[in-house]
Amino acid sequence: MILLPREAYVEMSWQKREKSKIFSDSWSFVALDSDLPEEGDFRALMCGDYPLLVLRLADGSLAGYQNICRHRGTLLVEGGKGNIGKAMICPYHRWTYSLNGQLRGAPNMSSCFPDMDRSKMGLKPASVGVFQDMIFVHPDPQADFESWIAPIADKAWPHDLSASDLRESKSLTYDMKCNWKVFVENAIDGYHLAYLHENTLGGPTPDENIWKRHGDHMIWYAMDEEGVRHSLPAKIRKEFADWWSKPVKSAENIEFGGVYFLFPNILITATPYSFSLSWLEPVSTSRSLLHVRHWAGTEQARDERKFIPGYNGDSDIISSDNWKQHPLETGDFQTEDVWICERNQRGLESPAFEIGALAEGPGAEEPIRWFHETLAEAMSL
Ligand code: FES
Ligand SMILES: [Fe+2]
Repeated sequence: MILLPREAYVEMSWQKREKSKIFSDSWSFVALDSDLPEEGDFRALMCGDYPLLVLRLADGSLAGYQNICRHRGTLLVEGGKGNIGKAMICPYHRWTYSLNGQLRGAPNMSSCFPDMDRSKMGLKPASVGVFQDMIFVHPDPQADFESWIAPIADKAWPHDLSASDLRESKSLTYDMKCNWKVFVENAIDGYHLAYLHENTLGGPTPDENIWKRHGDHMIWYAMDEEGVRHSLPAKIRKEFADWWSKPVKSAENIEFGGVYFLFPNILITATPYSFSLSWLEPVSTSRSLLHVRHWAGTEQARDERKFIPGYNGDSDIISSDNWKQHPLETGDFQTEDVWICERNQRGLESPAFEIGALAEGPGAEEPIRWFHETLAEAMSL
């Protein structure tokens, strides 16, 4: 059994290997299918070492490309989103590509490239997959989306975002002083819920709380005394009973999970009245960004950012630098998590650090063991 060593959290060489072995060889969340309604609508993003582009074609399908010009490799599209129009034109020498990726033409083609076969100079493809209205992209044109998503594809799912009565209510980014894996480990840690979060989530304790492993992914839910599955801890169900008067239409089935972790870096937190989609972006060994999109029922939708400690109103970046009170007094469990992750990071940077033990059981720290196993395998350790 391999548990990750200290180097995994502190060494730049490790982070570089993760970039090429994990993030360059994984499915990344791009956008919702409904975010790209028109022909030419695109998203550009980095997946590990690969700049990629996902784009809506005229026939309604999605195409994925390497976002680099076939001439001498300039980034074709810059900026994360927009509409590309009817063609992609490289700003360097104006090679022009159709939306279907074919090279349409290049300036001075007959004199400068007399022997060039245009049909061989199309954009290199990337793979695109759609699940529950969410678009994912992978740098490898042969990547198998079905086998990646299959382990959770037949599990109960909280909301169909394309058809639900949920409204997107906020979008923000946590800038955190911790390794991205420290935040993942916290998110799948069933042991801390009743302790770190005593005043917010208030549980569940490891025996009332289940993580299940589905391929490389995991799904969490809570159990009540009657053995009924819930997507929320009991304390939250009780405290917010009035505010969250009734579940939104799309979530009458309480059997769905409360947290879905899609390896390596995607976290989905669902309740009967909300849906949060987060993904981690490593910045350095000790810094990561957590991008969050959030949907809530119309009755519950509000701009919640002003309730988030660390939000200063100037940008959508949340940082512990802006906290005005102690994190454990904020009443916000996410703030408690960021606080403990940053503190965990500072401790595990010590040369004296090693994992002493992991609490056994799927309601405790077993999921961290699974995460380390999956990561170690992907890193060929
Ligand atoms: S690098 Fe794109 S046209 Fe030359
Ligand atoms: Fe937590």
